[in-house]
Amino acid sequence: MKNKLDALRTEFLQQLTQAKDEEDLRQLEIKFLSRKGKLSEIMHGLKNLDLKLRQEIGKSANQLKIELQNKFQEASKLMKKSIVNNEYVDVTLPGINRPQGHLNPITLVQNELEDLFSSLGFMILDGPELESDYFNFTALNLGPDHPARDMQDTFYIDYPNRQGEYDLLMRTQTSPMQIRAMNKYGAPLRALIPGRCFRNEATDARHEHTFYQVEGMLIDKNINFAHLKSFLEIVGKRLFGSNTKLRMRPKFFPFVEPGNNGEYTCFLCGGKGCRVCKYTGWLETVGAGLIHPDVLRAGGIDPEIYSGLAFGFGLNRLAMLKYNINDVRLFNSGDPKFLEQF
Ligand code: DAH
Repeated sequence: MKNKLDALRTEFLQQLTQAKDEEDLRQLEIKFLSRKGKLSEIMHGLKNLDLKLRQEIGKSANQLKIELQNKFQEASKLMKKSIVNNEYVDVTLPGINRPQGHLNPITLVQNELEDLFSSLGFMILDGPELESDYFNFTALNLGPDHPARDMQDTFYIDYPNRQGEYDLLMRTQTSPMQIRAMNKYGAPLRALIPGRCFRNEATDARHEHTFYQVEGMLIDKNINFAHLKSFLEIVGKRLFGSNTKLRMRPKFFPFVEPGNNGEYTCFLCGGKGCRVCKYTGWLETVGAGLIHPDVLRAGGIDPEIYSGLAFGFGLNRLAMLKYNINDVRLFNSGDPKFLEQF
């Protein structure tokens, strides 16, 4: 038995000096020191010996175990050190590809507008995507039977509000936040409200059921159309370059009076006319106007004292124009091939 222990010791030490790397050490540990290793095997064999011998050899076996464990630990420490000291970088090896995330182009445009408008003193607000019929339509002058509701069919929620009425819907526009902001902050007020909107659309390259808008509003004394025009001009120049021009054409939106459509000179042809602008030289980009007195009243603001301007950009449309994207469905596709380009 004693001889067996001695032989094990010699064998272990010899193999320890030959270990070349951490893997060799690991194998050695398994072979000699683990629960099923050679040392344990010998120790198991002790139970067949008589008591005195068992005690004697048991003691030596335990000492040997401690000795081998210490030697093993020393060796593995040394091994670690030498790995660190001898480490070198082989610059010819191919690198490890660490894929980087990309911001969605909608987020890029949104960030740009948030930067611009916060520098002009606007707060950036967030609002609920699940809205009430009242905020989304009625308070914005789109009463229950208003025909313009037809253009904004949406997803109605089959679940009653706290009053038991079925009036919850997915908001079709960020404009309801005009009312919420007025109720909360009163006048004067400057706010920019980006957010996700929903409509019941048959989707195609230009229509999507889930899209993004950004609403802007400013309320103060003596706000007029010239203020509105200057804000829209600033946005156009910031997003599409300093030569961008703006034209405003009348358009009806129930919550502004007068209302208009803001159009920028086409970023591609600079106004000469091309495929992108359908040979008009202009691109329809923003709905805007002076806030209707009824809407100010619904927000608790006296239209005799204050007036306001409001505008609403489609963020998808802005991103499509800015980055020349030809299918609106790409934004929500989650396709890395699309997103990696930005
Ligand atoms: N909410 C309108 C839409 O979704 C866009 C809009 C038009 C917003 C005029 C405005 C505005 O604030 O003044 O079509």
